[in-house]
Amino acid sequence: MPMSRVIGTGSFAPTRVLTNHDLEKMLDTTDEWIRVRTGIAERRICGPEEDSATLAEGAAVQALAMAGVDPVDVDILMVATVTPAVPLPATACLLQDTLKARRAAAFDIGAGCSGFIYGLAVADGLIRNGSARTVLLVGAETLSRIVNWKDRNTCVLFGDGAGAVVLQAQEGGPGIRSTHLYSDGGEWTLLVAPGGGSRFPPSERILREGLHLIQMRSGNEVFRLAVRAMEDACMTALKANKLEASDIDLLIPHQANARIINALADRLAFPEAKVVLNIEKYGNTSAASIPLALDEAARAGRVQPGMTLLLVAFGAGLTWGSAVVTW
Ligand code: UT7
Repeated sequence: MPMSRVIGTGSFAPTRVLTNHDLEKMLDTTDEWIRVRTGIAERRICGPEEDSATLAEGAAVQALAMAGVDPVDVDILMVATVTPAVPLPATACLLQDTLKARRAAAFDIGAGCSGFIYGLAVADGLIRNGSARTVLLVGAETLSRIVNWKDRNTCVLFGDGAGAVVLQAQEGGPGIRSTHLYSDGGEWTLLVAPGGGSRFPPSERILREGLHLIQMRSGNEVFRLAVRAMEDACMTALKANKLEASDIDLLIPHQANARIINALADRLAFPEAKVVLNIEKYGNTSAASIPLALDEAARAGRVQPGMTLLLVAFGAGLTWGSAVVTW
C-alpha cells in the first residue's frame, strides 16, 4: 500500500498588516490585553482585490513549485475553508480554474479550524487506496470578511492567510503515519456565523443584526475544551504510533491562542523549542494556520528529512484532530 508524502509546501498572506495599536483606535481594547491574553501582535487583512481563492492560489503556486509538480498532474484539489470565495461553487473549483489543474477533482472541506487536518486525512485515504497519486491541499481563509469589527471579543483574534501542501504516493515511508479526527456537533453554537445559509438566508435583517458574522459564545469554555481535546488527540496519535512525546521533533498546533498552545505543550511536556508558534504575526487564520506554520518552519530549515511532526487542531463544529507525519 502506498504512503502519502508531503513533497512541497507553500504559504501566502496579504501584505496589509493590522496591528493591535490600529485596533486600539477602532475599539475599546489595548495592545497589552491582546498580547497577554492571546499572544497576537498583528494580523494580515486582505485587500479589495483579494479573497480566499486568490490567497489559496498564492500558497498553491509555491507548494507546486517546491514539489516540482505541474498543476495538470494534480488528481485531487482540496481547499479547507470556512470563508469560501463564493457560496457556490467550491473555492477549490475557482482555484482549479486559475491553476489550470484540468485533470483534478476539486472540492472544499468544511471542518472549521480543523479543516487542514481533515483534508490531510481525506488526501491520505485517497492516496493509500490508489484513487489518487498527487493531491494539492490548501487551507485558505479571509476571516476579516466575516468578523464583526465592533465585537472586541472576537475581531482581535482572527486574520487572513493561506497555506498549502502537495502530497504524493510513495511506496514505503516516510510520509503520513496516522490521522485521527473527532467532532462534537452538540456544541455547534459555541462558535458560529449563523446567517446567510439556508436556515437564515441573506436578508436585510441578517445584515442589520450581523448574523452573517462570527459569534463566539463563552471564549473561556472554548479555551478549556480546546486544550483538553487537543491533548487527547495528541495522546491518541502518539499511542497509535507507539511514540513518546520525546520522539516528536516538532509540534505544529493550530494557532488560536498562544496560551492554549502553551497549556497544551505543558501537558504534553513539550519544550518550547519544539513548538511552532507564529500567531504573533497572523492571529488565528483557521484552516490556514497549520499549513502556514508548516511552510514557514520548512522554509526556515526547522523541518529536516527524517523528523517526526505532530500536527493538531481544534475549532468550530466542534471539530478536532491530529496527524503524525515523518518528513
Ligand atoms: O480557533 C479555535 C476556536 N477559538 C478559540 O480557541 C478561542 C478560545 N478562547 C480564547 O482564546 C480566550 O477565551 C479569549 C482570547 C477569547 C478571551 O480570553 P480570556 O482570558 O478567556 O478572557 P475572558 O473571556 O474571560 O474575558 C476577560 C475580560 C472580559 O471583561 P470582564 O467581563 O471580565 O469585565 C472581557 O469583556 O476581558 C474583556 N475583553 C477584552 N478587553 C479588552 C474581551 N475582549 C477584550 C479585548 N480587549 N479585545
